[in-house]
Amino acid sequence: MDPRAAQQEIQRLTELINQHNQLYYQEARSNISDYAFDHLLAELQALENRFPQYRLPDSPTQILGETPTQDFATVYHETPMLSLSNTYSADEVAQFVQRVQKQLPNESVTFFCELKFDGVAVSLVYEAGQLMRVVTRGDGLKGDDITQNALYIQHIPQVLQHPAIPPKLEARGEVFMTRSAFEKLNQDRIAQGVEPLANPRNATAGTLKTRKLQRGPARTLDCYLYSLRVPDWDLHTHAQGIALLEQWGFNVSPTYQPCTTLAEILDYIDHWQQARKELEVGIDGIVIKVNQLAQQDQLRCTAKSPRWAIAYKYAPTHVTTVLQDVAYRVGRTGVITPVAHLAPILLEGTVVKKASLHNAAEIARLQLHLGDTVFIEKRGDIIPKITGVQPTARRPDRKPVPIPTHCPACSTPLVRPRTQRVQHCPNRPGCTPQKKAMLTHFVHKKAMDIQAIGEQTVDRLFEEKLVQTPADLYILREEDFYPLAGFRKLAIQHILQGIAASKQQPFARVLFALGIRHIGSVVAGKLADHCGSMDQVAQASVEDLMAIPMIGLHMAQSIQMYFQTLDNRQLVDALKQAGLRMHTATPQLPPTHQPLAGKTFVISGTFKNFDREALRQQLVAQGGQVVSSVSAKLNYLIAGRKAGPAKLDQAAKWGITILDELTLTNLLAC
Ligand code: IVH
Repeated sequence: MDPRAAQQEIQRLTELINQHNQLYYQEARSNISDYAFDHLLAELQALENRFPQYRLPDSPTQILGETPTQDFATVYHETPMLSLSNTYSADEVAQFVQRVQKQLPNESVTFFCELKFDGVAVSLVYEAGQLMRVVTRGDGLKGDDITQNALYIQHIPQVLQHPAIPPKLEARGEVFMTRSAFEKLNQDRIAQGVEPLANPRNATAGTLKTRKLQRGPARTLDCYLYSLRVPDWDLHTHAQGIALLEQWGFNVSPTYQPCTTLAEILDYIDHWQQARKELEVGIDGIVIKVNQLAQQDQLRCTAKSPRWAIAYKYAPTHVTTVLQDVAYRVGRTGVITPVAHLAPILLEGTVVKKASLHNAAEIARLQLHLGDTVFIEKRGDIIPKITGVQPTARRPDRKPVPIPTHCPACSTPLVRPRTQRVQHCPNRPGCTPQKKAMLTHFVHKKAMDIQAIGEQTVDRLFEEKLVQTPADLYILREEDFYPLAGFRKLAIQHILQGIAASKQQPFARVLFALGIRHIGSVVAGKLADHCGSMDQVAQASVEDLMAIPMIGLHMAQSIQMYFQTLDNRQLVDALKQAGLRMHTATPQLPPTHQPLAGKTFVISGTFKNFDREALRQQLVAQGGQVVSSVSAKLNYLIAGRKAGPAKLDQAAKWGITILDELTLTNLLAC
């Protein structure tokens, strides 16, 4: 791959993975299987290894995807909560064992295998045997303080009863929802007409994020502990830590196993491949850890994961079936998604008749023909995916799956930007499914929250031509409903009150409600905070926008394109006229205040008053760009305690300004 293409692909993958991460961690949802996600990440990692100069500061290979939510206090972990590097291949497990042994020559290494529980990682801190704090992993450095919610999670003891509890300890583990609790939750949701949740992990994350959790829902959550840290305690092995957790009354899954050889590890993997189906807790693999803590220390960690452990993940089960047809759906932002119609097939307990194909490029990549036998994969997600075609001889009369050139709803020629894989219909103001979906999005709970208007009411108001754009909602009068059958007076008043009340929604929601492509509710919040008003957002340049944390090139371009379109500007004006909030209560940094614009920084070492991620965000917010390696073009090396000697040498060689913590504080204060 040539460097330019590599740079573009790195950018695309970084943004795509960050979007998936945002959905997963902020909204406890997912529209990609873990397997496919891990492959995207591995693809990005491989490209970054070949072209490290193009790695972006917000690369998901460097930082964890989760950022703490705003509903809970943010708490820093005493030591970072890292993630695990993972593999789907037994060969790579063998390589891991070999590598560990090579790095610890003349030492006998033993391993400790555990299940990889599929839930939400938490840290429990106890002082004098009392539970002080429960915090989610968050971005690895800091997470949400969910101590109150943890009151209702099973097996998180408030007080440890054992006589020999140390003055302070930290236990880490996984909160999860059992399969039966998950099924019951979904049955209840379906009965209430609410969409079922995709998998127990999403249900766990969603339940934990509920503010002021009540006894009922939280009781569906349980917890397994798998790691112990006790300051100044004579601990030599991970196995001892597990034994102490058990003695002190924590819930430890009895499924672990010490292993001394690769063969034993592979047996453990094999055993749980089948046996996991009988478990009440979902697992997505197993974890292999070096048992001796001194050896763990010697092996050390990368920025993201320890070198002394690896997760082996079970590849999803595939089934094959016949592709009968492909239909094209038009989404809210005009994105065209192919939906495969399949010969019905049983997969993990449900009959699958449809599967997503992502986009037209995916169809081309798979060279799909109607009548092909295809592989279907379903892991946790509700919508299964086609992952491949059975490579048997294809009859010559089979036709390639047609790729549309025009919108299936409004016949407008489709567009596909060069850097993107998705096709979309640009006729946003005139394409019926887009207009309807736009209205549904606008009234959604997370947007303007007009609960009196559901999808059916949107359909009806749209079909009756009473409401075509969100602005039309605000000119609706009671008498407009009179000619329509099925609307009682009380219901009409309820709708109109809901619309009027929505004018009080904060600016961030109005911004999200516009439905700008790629801009989810979290990003809209950040955008609102940084820009302060709709006018500022509309006027910001792509560079201004990209200086805001979480906003990448695609998002910035999408925002700019939105405001360059006349219909959109008219809609925003009409909403302004209607009295919707167009600015935040307290505008923060305007995007034009960017004293560090054009300057590049490398951060190395640790700092007394800064955590590195917070520092990165501050630099970016002021226009700076944080890169990972020192080059001749670099402007500043920020060197904290234990800064990398190689980086310092290179910086000295190229005459790059080196900033210590004090100078840095002054620079940021400017
Ligand atoms: S050890 C530094 N053990 O996997 C490694 N993690 O990708 C610390 N997980 O955040 C984690 N089961 O949510 C460990 N037996 C286990 C685990 C486990 C599940 C999760 C945990 C962690 C993620 C790492």
